[in-house]
Amino acid sequence: MSLQPSTLTKADAIIAQYPQKRSAALPLLHLVQEDHGYITQEDMAWVAEKIGVTPMQVLEVVSFYPMFRQSPTGRRHIKVCRTLSCALRGSYALMESLEKSLNCPRGETSPDGNFTLEFVECIADCGCGPVVQVDHALYENVKPENATAFADQIKQSLHNPQYGKKQPQPDTPEWNG
Ligand code: FES
Repeated sequence: MSLQPSTLTKADAIIAQYPQKRSAALPLLHLVQEDHGYITQEDMAWVAEKIGVTPMQVLEVVSFYPMFRQSPTGRRHIKVCRTLSCALRGSYALMESLEKSLNCPRGETSPDGNFTLEFVECIADCGCGPVVQVDHALYENVKPENATAFADQIKQSLHNPQYGKKQPQPDTPEWNG
């Protein structure tokens, strides 16, 4: 168990917001995942103890919600929306191209550990599909015909020390890190 001191402080502050400690389960799990990148059994035992439930009850929460991960992701976590609006605008073709370009089957992490590629349900930007989320950044109108260039930009970001320091602009094919 190696959570950062700031995480431990935030955890106590979160629990204090709820009349019943167990109600803090979801925000605490988000906090732990943000710190570690995924949630281990040890993490679940820690959360369980903090909120007064059993580790099995925490596991039930973790395994129910798809946003919680129990294994590490690649260095870039790529989520392609497959819900109706994005699907009609080509998210399935986009996914197929990304699988080839990134050498990463959907639902898996690439053998080099660089990419995790997933289909996800609606991420609430339905008018601008196909929508792709890469780590914390959202990309709109990622057309299947631009998939290779988009994948190249993701690959290049692995060597960009500025990655993640500013938000991308909508409708620009350019990778802004
Ligand atoms: S359908 Fe893709 S963001 Fe809503």
